[in-house]
Amino acid sequence: MKGSLLYEGKAKKVYHVNDHPDQLILSYKNDATAFNGKKKDQFEGKGRLNNLITSKVFQYLKQNGISSHFIEELNDTEQLVAKTDIVPLEVVVRNVAAGSITRRLGIKEKEIFTPPLLELFYKDDDLDDPLINDAHAYHLTGISEEDLDSIKQMALQVNEQLIELFKQVELQLVDFKLEFGRLQDGTIVLADEISPDTCRLWDITTGEKMDKDVFRENIGDLISVYETILQRLEEHTCAK
Ligand code: TMP
Ligand code: ASP
Repeated sequence: MKGSLLYEGKAKKVYHVNDHPDQLILSYKNDATAFNGKKKDQFEGKGRLNNLITSKVFQYLKQNGISSHFIEELNDTEQLVAKTDIVPLEVVVRNVAAGSITRRLGIKEKEIFTPPLLELFYKDDDLDDPLINDAHAYHLTGISEEDLDSIKQMALQVNEQLIELFKQVELQLVDFKLEFGRLQDGTIVLADEISPDTCRLWDITTGEKMDKDVFRENIGDLISVYETILQRLEEHTCAK
C-alpha cells in the first residue's frame, strides 16, 4: 500500500499510496527540532505519541463538524490522509501570551487574549517563517480574500473545540499552529498535525508546561509529558 517517499520534513515523512493518487501516508518521526531546526534531538517513541495524539484530535474535530485531511490511523506511527496542496501559511491562534509574541511585542507571559488573537506566518524555512499580514498572504500565496477569511474562521472554530477538549482533560490550551491544504477540487481543509509539538498546553491545576516547550526550554522529559497527554485523551475517549 505504501508507495515511494514524496517528502521528508522535520517531524514527518510523507509517502505516496499505491493506486490512490489522492491519498498520502504520514509517518511520524522521533526527531524533535526547535528554533527552525537550530536545536535538534531524537526521542524514542515521540513519533508514535504524536501520531496517536493527532489522530485522536482530528477524530474529535470530525465528530464536531470540522473536516480535515485525516482519514484513519494505520498503525502506531502512520496515518492515512487525503492528499492536499499545502497553503504555505502557519495560522497561529493564541488564547494566552507565551512564546514568540512575548519576545516580539514585550507582552508578559500568561496575559489573556480576549478575543483570541490570530497571527499568520509565511511558511518558508529560508526566511525563518516570518510573521506576515493579510496583504502579504494574498501576494505571497495567491490566496483569495474569501479563502483567507474562511481559513481564519475555521481556525477560530478549531480553537473553540480544542479549548473544550483539552479542558476536559485538565489542560489549558495556550496557543497552537494550524496548516491548511487544498483538495484536488480546490476545497480548503485542515491539514498537517495537531500535537504537543504544535500546541502549548499547560496543566490546569499546576500550570506545568506539557508540550514541546519542555524541549525548547530544557525543562522536563518530553516523552513522559507527551505520554501523559495521550493517556488523558485516551481516558477521555473511553469515558464518553
Ligand atoms: P510561537 O510562540 O513560537 O510563535 O509558537 C506559537 C505556536 O505555534 C506554539 O503552540 C508552537 C506552534 N509552532 C509550530 O507548531 N511550529 C513552528 O514552527 C512554530 C514556530 C510554532
Ligand atoms: N517547528 C520549528 C522547528 O522545527 C520551530 C518550533 O516548533 O519551535 O524548528
